[in-house]
Amino acid sequence: MSTSRTPGVRHIRLKIVRKPAFACFLLWIGCWIIANTSIYIHRSIFAGYCTEEKSKRIFARLCHDYKQGVLTGDVCDDLCVTQTMVYKQCLYYDKGKKVIQADWNSQPVILKSKLENFSSYDRLYLLDERETRSIQDIDILLFTALEVKRALGLEVKNTTVPQLWAKQLKDKRDSYSRAELASMWSLLQQEEYVLFRLLQDLSKHVPRVMGSCGHFYVVEYLTAGHAWHHSLFSVETLVNPSWRDSSRKVLWRTINEIALSFLELIRHFENDFSHHLHLCDIKPENFAIRSDLTVVAIDVDMAFFEPKMRNILEQNCTADEDCNFFDCFSRCNTKTNKCTAERSNSNLQVICDKIFRPLFISKLSELRMYHPLQSQLRNAVLRCSELSIHGVTDKKTMEVTFLELYDLLKAWQR
Ligand SMILES: Nc1ncnc2c1ncn2[C@@H]1O[C@H](COP(=O)(O)OP(=O)(O)OP(=O)(O)O)[C@@H](O)[C@H]1O
Ligand SMILES: *[C@@H]1O[C@H](CO)[C@@H](O)[C@H](O)[C@H]1NC(C)=O
Ligand SMILES: *[C@@H]1O[C@H](CO)[C@@H](O)[C@H](O)[C@H]1NC(C)=O
Ligand SMILES: *[C@@H]1O[C@H](CO)[C@@H](O)[C@H](O)[C@H]1NC(C)=O
Ligand SMILES: [Mg+2]
Repeated sequence: MSTSRTPGVRHIRLKIVRKPAFACFLLWIGCWIIANTSIYIHRSIFAGYCTEEKSKRIFARLCHDYKQGVLTGDVCDDLCVTQTMVYKQCLYYDKGKKVIQADWNSQPVILKSKLENFSSYDRLYLLDERETRSIQDIDILLFTALEVKRALGLEVKNTTVPQLWAKQLKDKRDSYSRAELASMWSLLQQEEYVLFRLLQDLSKHVPRVMGSCGHFYVVEYLTAGHAWHHSLFSVETLVNPSWRDSSRKVLWRTINEIALSFLELIRHFENDFSHHLHLCDIKPENFAIRSDLTVVAIDVDMAFFEPKMRNILEQNCTADEDCNFFDCFSRCNTKTNKCTAERSNSNLQVICDKIFRPLFISKLSELRMYHPLQSQLRNAVLRCSELSIHGVTDKKTMEVTFLELYDLLKAWQR
């Protein structure tokens, strides 16, 4: 009896011993796989991502140039002398613009510049030419107008030009210093700065420009979108704090307001300027939300007014695919082998496809609320996104689609 029992006991023991060993082995394999994939993901996502060391060095060079009298600006003192503006973190990829978050009197702000070094921008050759003589205001007006024409393809009235100059420069009577002129010139070479400045008083859908130092301009800090976030914009952080432990209803209400503000932005960019403003790089990361839930275009490097858009689109082609410029498409005329200058899709179509579709359809499944209007809205968003696939571009269909979305969002709001 006892001999026959022993193997049984042993068998059980072995089982007991083997199970945790096997579990350990699985766990070890699992950890190994997770560790490797996360290293891989980290490498591929953060390849060329900015570092704190590099960004601080950029500021150090900026302040060095400021102290040397090479450049200036209304926030240079705060950044370089009183230190009321301090580095917080950097937000850019190496190949992109330099985008740095700082705290200014404990408020977050964003500093931006296309290039890291002041010396990398073109010099204003008037400064070399007229070593001694002072530069006349009329020359400044002329040069600024030419630069705006180059950057945005717009003819500006010379009354608009003074608006482009930073506030403290605008109402000045004595002539500009070399550092002031050189700094302004480096800013004028940045299309995004010029566009933000031109639209400051005309649009709430661009960030407020709060000042500058050398080639860096300061804009308000906003809640930027993220493709991976389940609601694209961290809606939870935007919800009015008094509505905390926010119900789904409140979150949906917030998403609804954001979608309405997107529609408002579309209308505004289409109708309210002397030319239609086309957005050719539409993704959640390039938009942000202000605390009053206004949608703001924070990256306008790929935003073009109609005349410049036509220039960009009008290329040689053999097929329609040759006429795609990021999110802005036109058609190939096979007779002349030239793309049509007129854009064939619209801001609305691309926003439906790249913002509304993820916002209302693929993501947010955990937030789903069963409301009769929801399925109608989903269908309307799908139809709108598919317009570009079917090549529908006529004005009437676009208008009907816009109004359908607008009415559904408004109805839901009530
Ligand atoms: N005003 C702002 N408030 C908060 N975050 C901002 C602001 N401006 C930019 N950012 C953040 O910095 C990121 C990069 O800014 P931006 O898109 O202007 O630079 P970029 O170099 O053109 O980027 P990319 O080429 O990848 O689109 C944004 O995606 C956003 O997350
Ligand atoms: C900026 O200037 C620094 C020092 O002058 C130099 O080392 C660096 O290569 C420059 N960067 C660029 C992009 O020109
Ligand atoms: C504006 O520019 C026009 C030419 O484009 C010029 O004739 C006119 O004098 C300028 N006005 C001012 C105030 O400089
Ligand atoms: C486009 O085509 C024309 C004639 O077919 C040619 O002269 C021109 O150089 C081409 N332009 C480009 C950018 O390829
Ligand atoms: Mg961007």
